[in-house]
Amino acid sequence: MTADQRADASSLAPADPLDSRLLGRAVKRIAYDRETIARRVREMGAEITAAYPDGDLLVLGLLKGSFIFLADLVREIQRPLHVDFLVASSYGAGTVSSGNVRLVYDPETKLEGKHILLVEDIVDTGRTLSTLIELLSARNPASIEICALLHKHIATELHHPTKFIGFDAPNEFLVGYGLDHAENFRHLPYVASLQ
Ligand code: PRP
Repeated sequence: MTADQRADASSLAPADPLDSRLLGRAVKRIAYDRETIARRVREMGAEITAAYPDGDLLVLGLLKGSFIFLADLVREIQRPLHVDFLVASSYGAGTVSSGNVRLVYDPETKLEGKHILLVEDIVDTGRTLSTLIELLSARNPASIEICALLHKHIATELHHPTKFIGFDAPNEFLVGYGLDHAENFRHLPYVASLQ
């Protein structure tokens, strides 16, 4: 999928009225509906399968935001892999990234000699990933790549390329499919933007 196609996949459909009532009218529009996400995740699984013909692959999910994306993605990767998680936090309860990235949980799995695929829900300022890439690279993995469902392309501090991107996201505050606002909305089966 090209960058243009990824951007076009963002539909302008209004949020489901029932959901709007349930969610206190906070949701402005659905940016990516569940079918669009499922289709793209399937494609990404195939891209990742093809990109790793051999070696040990460790899929490392950044919690909490990646939990739904990672669960769907690994089921579309057709090769052996291990899964572990990292917990880092940068937003707190606000809608703007605080830039203060904290590592709350560090994986037990050894990274040395393995292909690491860091799975993120969204790349916003890129601060979370630039901190983590630096930290994880020091553990001598065979390779380290980023896979993000959403990428806003506004990250000025992230110098490592994002090899696998689901969608080029609008610069709006997005929730659902794992993404939260003050811990709400993670359970929505689609990605929506807030009022
Ligand atoms: C969010 C999101 C990404 C990161 C992106 O995580 O899930 O991990 O911020 O922002 P950045 O590119 O500006 O660093 P958050 O810190 O809110 O924690 P969460 O995953 O638990 O929601």
